[in-house]
Amino acid sequence: MKILGIETSCDETAAAVVEDGVRILSNVVVSQIDIFAEYGGVIPEVAARNHLEVMMPVVKKALSDAECTWDDIDAIAVTHAPGLLGSLLIGTLTARTLAILHNKPLYAVHHLKSHVYANWLSNAEETKPVFSSAGLEFSSTSYAGSRAEPPLRGEPVRPGRNIGVENSNQNFMLQKRQVLVSQTPQFPLIALVISGGHTQILYMPAHNQFEIVGTTRDDAVGECFDKVAKILGLPYPGGPAIAKAALDGDAEKYKLPHPKVGGLDFSFSGLKTAVLRAVQKELGLPISHPSYDLKNHLSKKQVADFAASFQKTAVEILCEKLALAMEQYPDVQSVVIAGGVSANKALREALPEAYFPEPSLSGDNGAMVAAAAYYEIISGLKPVDPYSLNIYPRISIEK
Ligand code: KG4
Ligand code: ZN
Repeated sequence: MKILGIETSCDETAAAVVEDGVRILSNVVVSQIDIFAEYGGVIPEVAARNHLEVMMPVVKKALSDAECTWDDIDAIAVTHAPGLLGSLLIGTLTARTLAILHNKPLYAVHHLKSHVYANWLSNAEETKPVFSSAGLEFSSTSYAGSRAEPPLRGEPVRPGRNIGVENSNQNFMLQKRQVLVSQTPQFPLIALVISGGHTQILYMPAHNQFEIVGTTRDDAVGECFDKVAKILGLPYPGGPAIAKAALDGDAEKYKLPHPKVGGLDFSFSGLKTAVLRAVQKELGLPISHPSYDLKNHLSKKQVADFAASFQKTAVEILCEKLALAMEQYPDVQSVVIAGGVSANKALREALPEAYFPEPSLSGDNGAMVAAAAYYEIISGLKPVDPYSLNIYPRISIEK
């Protein structure tokens, strides 16, 4: 089954053809980063206009790269929620029109679901441990109808291995669990969705079933990377810029606080303010000193040290909450990381046993939309009406 996936929820115009939810036949992404780097953030109207300009060339290239004609395409999938209103409109109107024109079933996919399903695209060849408190009771039922590889490979290995940050007093509670290897994430699983707009812990008992068990009370972690980058005078988007600057920095130089938010919820606005105050203090400037001017006083070394210290703290916070989630959901067999921040190398190193998308699939792309739609189709979800499909800029994944 070949699905054309279309994604325009923010500032990437993307289309891809994916076969059977796993094999990427083409993946075209046109990013508007260069445009918004100048402004230090996305301007919604400008993003929508740019989507409009490149949308059809991107779709055409996705088809030609995949060596497909319309006859080869079995379904069209598009992001319809959440995201920027104007951006979502361009993608959905394109998909609706193409579905009517070429008489294809149309699937509307939630953006966070797509990010989660990037993990089924990328790890087909990779093995990861499966965690279980109950031993060898895995089945492939959740793969019924899927032509993905069999879920388990190999014998029980490495019992008692932990995941988590070293030195963390919250190390993952996996010591007593049996560990097996698998090529694809196993259910039930915990998904940590970390992007520019969201920071959520999802409990997934099976394909297409999501329960939000933790969420941010204020900023998303990606947003926090972007805001801290701005303070430090690093370009937009801040995540990659901070990760790069941190390579030359001392992560122990500045001690930053972990938010005191109970349960599995997050808070990142305090961390951003803590960086701001630490920078002002380091420079001997009062807290009234405007944040936009601080970058003019910081040395390269100071920027690197702040970037490294901030990144370390953000990674620790994410790992601590994951550890808690694993404790609260002892039946969890896999941990899946999704969204733009999942590209972060320090986070990947801190969580060697979690699933991560291929770094190139961490950010917004059409392939993950097609993968998510594939699992909707095999789960029996019905296509939407192309004449009436709506967009939902703020809707939750649980809806
Ligand atoms: O998923 P995404 O591409 O778009 C949204 O759905 O929001 O996520 C974008 C976010 C931005 O905040 C960006 O700074 C962050 O992902 N990001 C990173 C890295 N690459 C992108 N954050 C930390 N480290 C990275 N390497
Ligand atoms: Zn995204």
